[in-house]
Amino acid sequence: MSLFESSDGLGSKEVPQSANKGPRFLVLEGIDGAGKTTHLQFLASRLRQAGQSVVITREPGGSPLAESLREIVLRSPMDGLTELLIIFAARRDHLRQTIWPALERGQWVISDRFTDSTRAYQGTARGLPSSLIEAMAQAVEAEGRGADHVFYFDLPAEVAAKRRRDRSAGALLAEEADRFDTETIAFFERVRLGYRLAAENRGSQQTWIDAQQSVETIQQQLSQVLAPWLSVNAEPSGPLSQPSSC
Ligand code: TYD
Repeated sequence: MSLFESSDGLGSKEVPQSANKGPRFLVLEGIDGAGKTTHLQFLASRLRQAGQSVVITREPGGSPLAESLREIVLRSPMDGLTELLIIFAARRDHLRQTIWPALERGQWVISDRFTDSTRAYQGTARGLPSSLIEAMAQAVEAEGRGADHVFYFDLPAEVAAKRRRDRSAGALLAEEADRFDTETIAFFERVRLGYRLAAENRGSQQTWIDAQQSVETIQQQLSQVLAPWLSVNAEPSGPLSQPSSC
């Protein structure tokens, strides 16, 4: 199943009333193997149980054009600057085609990765200048809403690598490794540091999670963060008719 989907009638013309109350655009960040996908599904299901309409999306990707760019950036050899330019091109289209329209409709958006991935991977880990990244982020995100809250799932790179190995050994068909899967432990430790710096810059609009804790403990933590938002966004959002398929 693709993460790039909405089971809530994306494209509906209904305009809910509560579009501007509280956080709406949530992002999950972390090195591969930190458990983002499991927790993303948990957040979405809690929101839906509370009557909210949720769009789940991902980066790179999240719109037809951005999904094509994802294939290129994950598979084709290129230098760091080319990678950065493609990632921001994909993000621009993702915002315009998917994220901003959903927020306009009053839906929640939960994205598996967003601009802090670029700060951590292309910035801190690959060494591209943060001044360039911030200028591009500003240009790309300028006319609309950026992430309201970021959840960082922090895990030592060695532990994440072991989880990834166990996961692919358990799969019937291991996914073909992409350009990032073959990076070194040292690279992923730099990504981790990049996330720490990004979190520090985000003030209270973030939650730092020790991803070595049990799934249950992490989900309790997520529920505590969600609780006050759900009371602020008590009115149902977006088109409510269809049950969730994920
Ligand atoms: P993802 O789909 O999360 O990979 P995985 O399923 O292996 O966890 O993201 C693909 C890769 O893209 C991931 O290794 C990180 C990288 N990436 C960047 O380097 N910069 C970015 O801005 C984004 C969004 C992703």
